[in-house]
Amino acid sequence: MNERTLTMIKPNAVKKHVAGKIISMWEDAGFEIVQIKRKHLTTSQAEGFYKEHDGKPFFAGLVEFMTSGPIYILVLEKENAIADNRKLMGATNPANAEEGTIRKLYADSLGENAVHGSDSPQSAAREIDYYFNVFEL
Ligand code: CMP
Repeated sequence: MNERTLTMIKPNAVKKHVAGKIISMWEDAGFEIVQIKRKHLTTSQAEGFYKEHDGKPFFAGLVEFMTSGPIYILVLEKENAIADNRKLMGATNPANAEEGTIRKLYADSLGENAVHGSDSPQSAAREIDYYFNVFEL
């Protein structure tokens, strides 16, 4: 059964001009691009997206980084999209990411880890709804 996931190409990867290479990795892995947009998040938009991390020691730095430049926001679709995207992205901390994963190739650090992907069906539904309205999907 097809499934959708919300994924973002973060400011460090956009600045390095590797967004196209990352998108190719998703296409080569069989993901359909259902939606894509470029956006420079405001502080409150980034805080709202990452609200589950509010209060953690890295929250302020995460919001500062995510508002430091434009990002690409995508809805991807395929069978098992959420788990398969997390596998393709690699571990959150690039130091632990497997060879050939997006983060191994393009992340700079745990904070500047190039991409985000939904971690469950519940977060995918919330995150897709956060950025896209019903007419865009
Ligand atoms: P992401 O998948 O976008 O979800 C939350 C982000 O917080 C995570 O990727 C990391 O980039 C960032 N982050 C920064 N510091 C930490 C930390 N100590 N533990 C987990 N995530 C962190």
